[in-house]
Amino acid sequence: MRNHARMKPKYKELHEARYREIVEKGLKGWGGNQVPEREKYWTDYWAEFVKDFKPPDKGEVLELGSGAGNISAIIARHGFNVTGIEISPTAVQIASKRNEKLENLRFFEMNVTDLSRFEDKTFDIVFDGLCLHCIIGEDRSLAFKEIHRVLKPGGFFMLNSICDEPKDKEIIKNYDSVMRCAFSDGAPYRYFGRKESLIGEIASHGFEILRERVEVKPNGDSLRAIARRIP
Ligand SMILES: C[S@@+](CC[C@H](N)C(=O)[O-])C[C@H]1O[C@@H](n2cnc3c(N)ncnc32)[C@H](O)[C@@H]1O
Repeated sequence: MRNHARMKPKYKELHEARYREIVEKGLKGWGGNQVPEREKYWTDYWAEFVKDFKPPDKGEVLELGSGAGNISAIIARHGFNVTGIEISPTAVQIASKRNEKLENLRFFEMNVTDLSRFEDKTFDIVFDGLCLHCIIGEDRSLAFKEIHRVLKPGGFFMLNSICDEPKDKEIIKNYDSVMRCAFSDGAPYRYFGRKESLIGEIASHGFEILRERVEVKPNGDSLRAIARRIP
């Protein structure tokens, strides 16, 4: 039986270690050898979003958990002003160096639970770069409140999270079905919310859901939701 009260997430420690490994192995970002495939996926995803939802030209976009900046660069190519925030200082360094020539792209070390560096109603779009499934327990509500605060009324919130039951054997070995969390190094590090619960979480923080779909994959399903801040 796990003592849940003592199992605090180690956001910085755990993700910083992953990015140091990425640097040591000379990989291009989160996902290692799958980076080109992931970039193709997000390129198509953003093209579809821009076509279907027509966000403001040159709007302000915040990417949560921008990592090595792979998706931020794709978003910036659409002409948006992109701000990436990230818990790992090594990731921020990689992303900033790689994109130093792009004026519409900047990166900061920051925890998604505290966006106090940004004024209220700063962004037209907040894009979850697969970060919110890293956020555990009470921290989730802090993050959702901050997202709502920094978005302009009517602004878009795009959530991208693993969901439902884990399928990967290694993850299942370290999975607590009560918390719905996978563990690493004794700490909860991935939250597998049920689809309905994730949708409810978005709606309960002041958003209207515009589109939702679950992508079913052999190694785990993911929710793609697009919502709008209710003014
Ligand atoms: C699955 S990775 C995706 C990275 C990047 N968006 C990409 O697709 O290449 C999730 C990212 O969220 C970051 N992250 C985890 N917890 C965080 C937190 N509390 N605040 C900000 N970023 C966090 C991790 O360091 C990691 O870079």
